[in-house]
Parts: sequence; C-alpha cells; structure tokens
Amino acid sequence: MKSVRIGIVGVGVIGTAHAFAIYNGEAEGLILSALCDNDKNRANSLKNEFPDVPVFEGYEEMIDSGLIDAIIIATPHYFHPIIATCAFKRGLDVLSEKPLGVYTLSLKKAFKAQKKSGKLYATMLNQRTNKLFMLAKEMVDRGDIGKLIRNKYVITNWYRTQEYYDSGAWRGTWRGEGGGVLINQAPHNLDIWQYICGMPVSLRAKCYEGKHHNIEVEDEATICAKYENGATGEFITSTGIENGVNTFEIVGDKGKILIERGRLVLEKNGKITAFEDEDYNGHLNILKNFANAILYGEKLIAPASEAVNELILSNGAYLSSWKNSWIGINFSQREYLRFLKRKIANSRIKESNTERENLFEKAYKRKWTTNW
Ligand SMILES: NC(=O)c1ccc[n+]([C@@H]2O[C@H](COP(=O)([O-])OP(=O)(O)OC[C@H]3O[C@@H](n4cnc5c(N)ncnc54)[C@H](O)[C@@H]3O)[C@@H](O)[C@H]2O)c1
Repeated sequence: MKSVRIGIVGVGVIGTAHAFAIYNGEAEGLILSALCDNDKNRANSLKNEFPDVPVFEGYEEMIDSGLIDAIIIATPHYFHPIIATCAFKRGLDVLSEKPLGVYTLSLKKAFKAQKKSGKLYATMLNQRTNKLFMLAKEMVDRGDIGKLIRNKYVITNWYRTQEYYDSGAWRGTWRGEGGGVLINQAPHNLDIWQYICGMPVSLRAKCYEGKHHNIEVEDEATICAKYENGATGEFITSTGIENGVNTFEIVGDKGKILIERGRLVLEKNGKITAFEDEDYNGHLNILKNFANAILYGEKLIAPASEAVNELILSNGAYLSSWKNSWIGINFSQREYLRFLKRKIANSRIKESNTERENLFEKAYKRKWTTNW
C-alpha cells in the first residue's frame, strides 16, 4: 500500500478541517476517499465542496463500500466507540477524535474488536506533539527534576461563548455530549497531565455545572489528586473565562519546570534554562503519524490504549463531584454510569438556534491548538 484511502465520518467543524487538510494534500500518505454525515443538508453540501469524493449518509454504508482502508471519527463523542467497533469488525484502522467516548465502559467492545482485528486505534490528541510538553515529559522521565512532589495545571483559556453551546443541539447537554469542559476541551490537557505526571491513585473534584453559560454540564472544574509516591496535584479548567491562562508547574525534589506563555523554564541547581515553543500543527502531525503507522509501522503518538487514561480522569472527576467525596482511581465504572444515566434521564432536548454553516471551519484554528 503506497497511501491510505481514508474516510471521515462526521463532517462538522473539525471533520471539515481534517477533510480539507487531506483533500489539499497536506497530510502525506492519506487520500480522502469518502465522507459521511448523517445530516442530509450537510451531506448534500459536501458533494459541492468535495465534488470527486463519494458522500454517504450512513457510516456502515461507507465502511462497507470497499472505498476506504481507514476511518477518522469526528462525530459527537457518544458515537465514537460505536463507529470504531463497526470499523474494526470490517478490518479498518481507526483514528478517533478525542475523547474516545463519554464513559470508559462504552470502550469495551471497541477494544475487543480492535484486538481481534489487529488494526490500529489512534486518537487525535494533537497536543502530544507540542514541543514544550514533550520536552517536559523527557525531563521528568529522565529524572532531571528528581522525584515528583507537586504539580498544578491551570488551563482556563478554553473560552467558549453561549453561541458556541447553542450552535449544536448536542452541545452542553448530558444526553448529547455527556459532559462539559472536562469531556470536550480539557481531554487534551488531562492527557498531557497524566502523560507527564502519571495517573493519580485518588482524586477529589468539584465540577460547576452551568456556572458561566446557560448549559446543563460543567463549564468549570477543579481536580485535586494524590499520587502513589505521596505527591499531590491540581488541575483547574474552565470555558467561562475570557482571559484565562495555560500554566503548568511541575515540582520535583531536584528541580522545577514551569510552562506558560509559550515558554518552558527549568530551574535546577540554582540554574535557570528556558526553551521557547515552536509553531506547529498538531492535527497534521497526528494525521501523518497515523498514515506512517499504517504504511511503515511508525509508533503511534497517541494510541487509544493511552488515551483511555484521560477518560478515566474525567469520569472519575464527575463521580467524585457528584458523590462529594474523594475516590480511588479504580472507582466503579458501573457506579459512574448509573450517575450519568440519571443525568441523561433529566437532560432536556435542545434545539440548535445558530446557522450550522457559519461554524464550518475550512482550516485548523488556533483555538484548538496549544493556546498560550
Ligand atoms: N482534536 C481537536 O482539536 C478537536 C477540535 C474540535 C472538535 N473535536 C472533537 O470532534 C468531535 C466533533 O466535534 P465538532 O465540533 O466537529 O462537532 P460538529 O457538531 O460540528 O460536527 C459533528 C458532525 O457529525 C455529524 N454526525 C452526528 N452524528 C453522526 C452519525 N451518527 N453519523 C454520521 N455523522 C454524524 C453531524 O451532522 C455533524 O456534521 C467531538 O468529539 C469533539 O470533541 C476535536
């Protein structure tokens, strides 16, 4: 195989950006071979935007078409594991948008089908290709700052307007989205947090539902974490602050790393070393890595087996907040699902009141990348 014939299911805001990047030849190794959206109007407009690309309204039809070797899943989150399972069963490689799903139990079938198929299961956790985060990971893994003692990640610059939440009937609801900032924007940062500092053994969270917007789900959350070696951590995120920050501090017993404003500062033995961020396109990096993994066996940057950790963290944070108590990281996923189902049962059906077309993005936007 010289290149991978790829299909995209869910061609909304981000699916459209991926589609144009591949269509325009920016993602070497991938050929845009089919598109699928179950919204009739969107499917029709795709035929004009991508005249030579077959368009489907049902994902199974696209998967069965024989036109594609791999699939990008860019629908609302609840569908991600369902479509991934179907794709693995038909022998396709899968690149899922984040999060992998809304609740970890929903991934069981997808992982089982993947194992049976032997195909790749990758995730669009594009911030894993940011230079500063990767540098921090290398430093921590090498022991440059010694044993980790404390960390604090404040990622409050995911500002979103009420119009954003109103732009899709699924957004900001338990039924359609299954969570707020923790499940939609912060998965990138929860992933980086655990990628560098490891998984905590227990956590205590407070999720503030509808604090800044007229939405059901949380638009602000604080998580406190305890680690096996006695270290502690904090993770704070919000979509309600217009001038929020992106600051990550990692303290070890031999040094300290501070990442903010596009700079990583390492403080060690009384010496300060600074590194600057570089312009990068994380989405394209993940797309190219996915192609290279299929074609040449390159190691996946964000395999689903690792991406599941950020979902455990967000699920755990919700459960802790709802139970108003500390919980162990091996919390009962069934108990979490019982709580979630209660939220879904009380969730209202929302009408979209913004022109969908206004939101379709034709290129990657700064708002999805590492924003300092
Ligand atoms: N990695 C990133 O930086 C990034 C950025 C934005 C969004 N996302 C993720 O991408 C996903 C989509 O987000 P969005 O903002 O593009 O949403 P969106 O609502 O703009 O687009 C979703 C599209 O999927 C279609 N769809 C829904 N259910 C479908 C189904 N069963 N079959 C086929 N099509 C279906 C909808 O009609 C819509 O066009 C979310 O999971 C989100 O978290 C990731």
